[in-house]
Amino acid sequence: MADLSVNFAGIRAPNPFWLASAPPTNSGMQVHRAFEHGWGGAVWKTIGAPVLNISNRYGGLSLGGQRLVAINNVELISDRPLEVNLREIAEVKRMWPDRALIVSAMVDADPKAWREIVMQIEDTGADGIELNYGCPQGMSERGMGAAVGQVPEMCQLNTHWVTSVTRLPVIVKLTPNVTHITDPAHAALAGGAHALSLINTINSVMKVDLDTLLVTPSIGGQATHGGYAGPAVKPIALHMLSELMCDPTVRASGVPICGMGGIQTWRDAAEFLLLGASALQVCTAAMHYGYRIIEDFVDGLSNWMDDKGFATLADVTGRSLPQMSSFGGLDLGYQAVARIDPDKCIQCDLCYVACNDTAHQCIDLYSPEGVKVNPGFNVRDGGKQVAQGRATPVVREPDCVGCALCANVCPVDGCIEMVSVPSGRPSVTWDQLTATRPAVTQEWAAMEAYRKEAGIEIH
Ligand SMILES: Cc1cc2nc3c(=O)[nH]c(=O)nc-3n(C[C@H](O)[C@H](O)[C@H](O)COP(=O)(O)O)c2cc1C
Ligand code: SF4
Ligand code: SF4
Repeated sequence: MADLSVNFAGIRAPNPFWLASAPPTNSGMQVHRAFEHGWGGAVWKTIGAPVLNISNRYGGLSLGGQRLVAINNVELISDRPLEVNLREIAEVKRMWPDRALIVSAMVDADPKAWREIVMQIEDTGADGIELNYGCPQGMSERGMGAAVGQVPEMCQLNTHWVTSVTRLPVIVKLTPNVTHITDPAHAALAGGAHALSLINTINSVMKVDLDTLLVTPSIGGQATHGGYAGPAVKPIALHMLSELMCDPTVRASGVPICGMGGIQTWRDAAEFLLLGASALQVCTAAMHYGYRIIEDFVDGLSNWMDDKGFATLADVTGRSLPQMSSFGGLDLGYQAVARIDPDKCIQCDLCYVACNDTAHQCIDLYSPEGVKVNPGFNVRDGGKQVAQGRATPVVREPDCVGCALCANVCPVDGCIEMVSVPSGRPSVTWDQLTATRPAVTQEWAAMEAYRKEAGIEIH
């Protein structure tokens, strides 16, 4: 059976699934129960500066009947007394020496304030400190959270204040509310961070109720922006993770990254690992389904690793990263086309409509008798049956640009496959073209000439 144990910047845990700093890790009783369920670690709900929370705090996004595809929160850091949190952290760590217990902290941008909280955290026996530079609401207006994470100089300085006074591993948790995630990451490394984690929540306004006209969540008729998380943010988190893992400075530093943002199943978790995460954190899925999801996480990941022949997490981490490239490094000669499996097709015509209206008009419809027909093909004429079934879509492959829209709208899994076909074009990247034939990338006339020469037709 696959070994799921981790050693993340010196923090050891029996598995890579840790609860993120958030409501699931708000108290000792909760973290204790989570560990009983099998979570490998927990990052305590952020402690630090005094706060008062408001009511209500969460807005949920439902899509196609699925509840909580995303959550938006206007919650602050822990509003429980600092001494109570510190006492409970110490108690939980004493009871669970084999689990990773990390304390998330956020205080004023002041070295004395950081030193004080760091010493208090060290006294609990916790395994590490996570610096919360992410909160996009409430705390950022007070110069904390995202206000630090969005300004590299502040990120470096605050991190330095912590790393210079503690013996514990320091994880810097990055905010996604930046243009280039590498900027705060470099700053954190320059400040001496031992590890990075991402993503914290994304700035958002959830929705407006069309009956009441109230913005959700409504706090007595008022609203504010809040942090967005849950399954809907996973692609953004994966992008930022892979961007960091491909960055030469981050790679050279060797610091591990704890990935989070939208992990709802073991499959999501495996994707984060494949793109370079060494450990994982989960918040919204635990808030939606409870601590028990850890059983599926552990079983699913370990079975998948056994099937794939991966013995340890190190065999998985970063395995898909070599595929990541800049746009300029992609092969312009590669060609894929859509191929429809007529045995799986339910003749809903969604692919036809998508291609015809918003792609490249290269799907035709054929009647069961093999006659090309128009959409809305009627099997009856004046009440008389003229055909045995509905029209079947067929791709005109030479005209298909391989955009994959049809494959994405088709409701039947595996019905439309994007298959690779010989293009007859030279294998070349945009970067190579720019270097070898700069005119082609700068002048339309040269581009047209190149297309003719390479046999590239535009549809
Ligand atoms: C209600 C709520 C409260 C949160 N509170 C904190 C917090 O106190 N400190 C922190 O670092 N992140 C906080 N987060 C962010 C999560 O730790 C996590 O970064 C984010 O939710 C993405 O993970 P997910 O998609 O699994 O929820 C909070 C998230 C939610 C939804
Ligand atoms: S891949 Fe794009 S162009 Fe080709 S058939 Fe599908 S929608 Fe049309
Ligand atoms: S979308 Fe899929 S199922 Fe529907 S007609 Fe096209 S191929 Fe068939």
